[in-house]
Amino acid sequence: MKRLIIPAVAALLSPVIFSACTESHAMDVSSPDGRLNFSLLLDDEGQLYYKVRKDGTAVVDSSGLGLACREFSLGHRTEVRKVERAAKDEVWHPVWGEESEIRNNYNEMCVHLHESDSGDTSGIDYMLRVRVFPDGVGFRYEIPGQENVSEMTVMEELTEFALHEDGVAWSIPWNHEYYEHLYEPSLVSRLDTVCSPLTVKMTDSLYVSIHEAALEDYAAMNLHPIGNSTRLRTWLTPWSTGEKVFASNTLKSPWRTMTIVNTPGELMLSRVMLNLNEPCAIEDTSWIEPARYIGIWWGMHRKEYTWGQGPTHGATTDNTKRYMDFAADNGFGGVLVEGWNRGWDGDWSANGDLFSFTEPYPDFDIEEIARYGAGKGVRLIGHHETGGAALNYEQQMDSAFAMYHRLGINSVKTGYVNPLMDGKEYHSGQYAVRHYRKVIETAAKHHIMIDNHEPVMPTGLQRTYPNLMTQEGVRGCEYDAWSPDGGNPPEHTVTIPFTRCLAGPVDYTPGTFNYDNPVPPYTRPQSTLAKQLAMSVVLYSPLQMASDMIENYEGRPEFEFLSRCPVDWNKTLVPEAKIGEYVTVARQDKENGDWWLGAMTNRNARQTRLPLDFLEPGKKYVAKIFADGDGADYRSNPLPVAISEVEVDSTSALNLNLASGGGAAVIISRK
Ligand code: NOJ
Ligand code: CA
Repeated sequence: MKRLIIPAVAALLSPVIFSACTESHAMDVSSPDGRLNFSLLLDDEGQLYYKVRKDGTAVVDSSGLGLACREFSLGHRTEVRKVERAAKDEVWHPVWGEESEIRNNYNEMCVHLHESDSGDTSGIDYMLRVRVFPDGVGFRYEIPGQENVSEMTVMEELTEFALHEDGVAWSIPWNHEYYEHLYEPSLVSRLDTVCSPLTVKMTDSLYVSIHEAALEDYAAMNLHPIGNSTRLRTWLTPWSTGEKVFASNTLKSPWRTMTIVNTPGELMLSRVMLNLNEPCAIEDTSWIEPARYIGIWWGMHRKEYTWGQGPTHGATTDNTKRYMDFAADNGFGGVLVEGWNRGWDGDWSANGDLFSFTEPYPDFDIEEIARYGAGKGVRLIGHHETGGAALNYEQQMDSAFAMYHRLGINSVKTGYVNPLMDGKEYHSGQYAVRHYRKVIETAAKHHIMIDNHEPVMPTGLQRTYPNLMTQEGVRGCEYDAWSPDGGNPPEHTVTIPFTRCLAGPVDYTPGTFNYDNPVPPYTRPQSTLAKQLAMSVVLYSPLQMASDMIENYEGRPEFEFLSRCPVDWNKTLVPEAKIGEYVTVARQDKENGDWWLGAMTNRNARQTRLPLDFLEPGKKYVAKIFADGDGADYRSNPLPVAISEVEVDSTSALNLNLASGGGAAVIISRK
């Protein structure tokens, strides 16, 4: 991957050599438990840099900070004006999520700085705000309004992460394919330009994940090592014209975040990124409803239906009613219908401008369907595929959301299938970030929840806008329908919990039951069926799909797990986890206190004994276990699922046998 570097800032990009004398200028802030420490340092020239230590041991060595703007450059002729300190220890309650309470506990240091290399004599005032939590660090640049600044153009961000160890990093390459890749392990020093989150195993007991929080009006952060070192430099996704970020007279960068913990399970449980986002901006959230959904969807990916009109058009009134009947009978709140609107005929991904978001095809009676669904307590889930034509969508979205609201539709899946937005801008650049933000805010006005496909990588905005329910930005289960490499390999779903899923909820859409594909390369799920069930617990999404066509669920006892699995949790635990190998997640239903477990392995079969010490002591429970059946194997025999029931309490342990590429899914209910 070639990186585009603007010559004017190239001089600023060489690694900075730090001298020992700088230590005397250190400004420190530690986590409330004292274990994690961030030091900000200045060398004699005024170059700004930082270090991070955990329990006294280096995690991040001297790493440069700064912003190279067209108008001025920050971070290399800097002096400190003032240091302010603050602390917070609060508990907040997300509208939905993996737990009902989140503790936000940090110490803050806000360093007021003055840069003299500003192109004129007056200099630039700016701040570096740092928060240190027990499980991670966040810092960001803030440029307040000042007389001599009327606009800014960020050409390059100079933030570095010089990791102390050349650990194993799991990442996907930076490109414009919507993050739909397999996360590959590699040494940090061997990486090319990669997207964040970037998760690194530094030692057997030290894991670091680098990402960002609150990406609001900026470009997404990517990373690349300088030379073959462990010093990672930020590389922001550019505009088509090469600039990175345009701002008026003030600027707040997203938070640069590092989750720093001892185990992979703790990575999954860290809420540093959510805590760094602003509290909920929506006053009345009563209309935001997490739900399970099915859809007229897999049929198109398997080519049994078409999106456009024709003899096998999926989105017909009758077919939708059939899906609504099934949803009502099986406890699903919504039915997604794709291909309902004008614009799908022909090469839609090259002609997204043709999409109308208010005109249904003639065989899709949207008024009648909405009325029918309302009578059954099932909502239609809207679909807005834009083909990447963001401007066409912006012109229509107000009226489209208003129409949906009138029809009682409260969620919309959006999509941007095109390598570039509006023919020229990347999905992770500032142009797209602004567009996605506009969609979320406009949708909120109309009480619409969003499930965004082909998004920019999530950064915790759902804390502020909890109508941003879920996003794709992953190589999801659709690849099990048509990918030329035969489907998502078994490692993928035990890697993404520690990489993509750290960024936020994921619309992976698990739940395939029909593995028949007689056509080479026989693309189908590379997992057992029991593992498909487990994914519904492990891969969190507040709008969670059961992806298969409904005829493939009829009469299947395993389907009970998908049809009942909650989407909003009181508590989440990760009893065991190894990146790329296995993961077990236990979640407690927010509504009734039942526990739901998902255990998954890669291509290696696995026996595990899971203590149930998280159950309430002295209480009796029944565990209903959906396990890989006799002889199950993801390649040769993926379908057997053994369903059994056993009485358990907090002193019990479950012995789970996971097949190659297998899993187990368990419901533990009070007796
Ligand atoms: C790609 C999305 O990820 C998929 O879910 C959708 O069906 C197609 N685009 C068509 O919009
Ligand atoms: Ca996609």
